Amino acid sequence: MTGPLPVAVSVKPRRRRPDSDVMPAQAMPLEGPLIDRYGRVHDDLRISVTDRCNLRCVYCMPEEGLSFLPRNELLTFDEITRLAQVAKSLGVSALRLTGGEPLVRKGLPSLVGRLAAVGFEDLAMTTNGTELAGVARELAAAGLRRVNVSCDSLRPERFAAIRRRGKLDVVLNAMTAAEEAGLTPLKVNVVLLRGHNDDEILDFASFARSTGRIVRFIEFMPLDAQGMWDRNRLVPGRQVFERISAVWPLEPVSDPSGTAPAERFRFADGIGEIGLISSVSEPFCGTCNRLRLTADGALRNCLFSDDEDTVRDLLRNGGTDADLSLLFRQAVWAKFPGHGINEPGFLSPARSMSMIGG
Ligand code: 5AD
Ligand code: SF4
Repeated sequence: MTGPLPVAVSVKPRRRRPDSDVMPAQAMPLEGPLIDRYGRVHDDLRISVTDRCNLRCVYCMPEEGLSFLPRNELLTFDEITRLAQVAKSLGVSALRLTGGEPLVRKGLPSLVGRLAAVGFEDLAMTTNGTELAGVARELAAAGLRRVNVSCDSLRPERFAAIRRRGKLDVVLNAMTAAEEAGLTPLKVNVVLLRGHNDDEILDFASFARSTGRIVRFIEFMPLDAQGMWDRNRLVPGRQVFERISAVWPLEPVSDPSGTAPAERFRFADGIGEIGLISSVSEPFCGTCNRLRLTADGALRNCLFSDDEDTVRDLLRNGGTDADLSLLFRQAVWAKFPGHGINEPGFLSPARSMSMIGG
């Protein structure tokens, strides 16, 4: 570790439209799949069920002082289920529950059961693992397919320094419980911060080899609430690849969908797989198929765009399924070609990760 983890506070100005966004003149289709102006079909919806979290990861939340949504602003389980049905009718086939930390929302397994009944090809959840062990079986029985568990260090003191709360052994036990419940393949999300946990790249690779869990190294993105992001703090996926493949040769794994953000690699000599999510250094916006619904009912077509369509008001004011469908279509149609992080004048979005959903 090189010194204390950075803390800074910033007031974020709103981001302007990127220069690269030249809107082609074409009419938005009113039927068929959810498509944007660049031909990207959107079939992956991420639903945040809460902006609260029981951890305070340095790359996401401040230690103190965040205010959370009042309960009446959160979508209810009825509202979320209705929107999932509308999304399904528009061709969404994969659903992921996110937060904040989804498992701090009471009764989550019942929501999983209702969403499973809507019928998606994939139903997954991203969790920090702190509350997972006790409900893994219930979630699996309700219809959850698999989980991604965030874990940024395999060393207890460092885990505590990066995540500020929670315990490494609880999260490791939760991974085992999730596997025993059949929530597989289990993926482990590691956000790398230069000078803080990048000396654990080989330890994580070894962990992937010995456990069969898919370890995904994620570049630090400008989505932290404290505005501490800076390019020098992220570890480019390319460097992770070089460091691991110098010890254990890697072979690419092809992804038939062509839309997964992770570049996948398997170890040439045996079990294990890693993924590189190089959102900043090698943007994958050109194949992005994702749409997000925030806990307070805003549709966001990109993590990095502040343009949101508020679906909650429409839901609560008697909007029909056709009205809701139109809003989904408009949200996707308005999507920028790329996140613009590498363009001059980029401003990080007003909502940070825990307020959007990963
Ligand atoms: N940059 C990259 N990844 C982040 N996450 C949260 N904040 C950031 C950030 N600023 C990750 C979490 C989790 C997922 C939801 O997003 O580690 O795995
Ligand atoms: Fe919580 Fe996830 Fe944000 Fe960490 S990254 S503070 S676990 S929401």
